Amino acid sequence: MYNVIETILTRRSIRSFLDKQIPLKDLQTILLAGSYAPTGMGMQSWKFTAIQNKNILDKINKAIKTAILTVSNDNKLYSYVNKFIKRAQDESYNFLYNAPTYVIVSNLESNYNSMADSSLAIGNMMLAAHSMGIGSCWLNQLPRLSNIHEIKDLLIELEIPENHKVYGSVVFGYPNEIPKVYLRKDVSKIFI
Ligand SMILES: Cc1cc2nc3c(=O)[nH]c(=O)nc-3n(C[C@H](O)[C@H](O)[C@H](O)COP(=O)(O)O)c2cc1C
Repeated sequence: MYNVIETILTRRSIRSFLDKQIPLKDLQTILLAGSYAPTGMGMQSWKFTAIQNKNILDKINKAIKTAILTVSNDNKLYSYVNKFIKRAQDESYNFLYNAPTYVIVSNLESNYNSMADSSLAIGNMMLAAHSMGIGSCWLNQLPRLSNIHEIKDLLIELEIPENHKVYGSVVFGYPNEIPKVYLRKDVSKIFI
């Protein structure tokens, strides 16, 4: 099998990480792989903000918790919201899965292709990471809560351009779990 196919077929989302940082060189390779994803009209209007600083990671986790508790009141009808409220109230819960590295992908809000471009970049990063023995998981909390005051302030502090929107974010680290097999649906139809 081609190496790239094997990498694609064996990648799984990782939600438990070893307490060991990934080398800066590997992070740079992951970000480089992200930047080689295709972009609509070759725009490359994205920005990859990578964080390995423990204090900043803690701050992000805290801001996510505060933001969840801020928005949740109006949305308590949804069971998944209650799950998130419980997690946000739990002092020990970490919304970044205690991963040592976090990458935020932002992009020009005015670019029609920003979501697609950012997703492709994240896909590349996750596969590059997996090929180096580094686990990853897409995290939706930060993008979903970007309009909340605490998260807005955080994005300014992280120098994310004001005309950008966060389209995705990913945690990276060495896996501390063997994820379950996740069978794929057969969704293809081939006309020959
Ligand atoms: C757009 C998107 C958002 C996701 N958000 C989250 C998330 O917030 N938290 C999480 O643990 N996993 C998240 N995931 C990971 C999915 O749950 C995971 O990819 C899916 O269950 C398939 O499992 P696999 O990645 O191991 O193949 C997200 C994935 C995508 C593509």
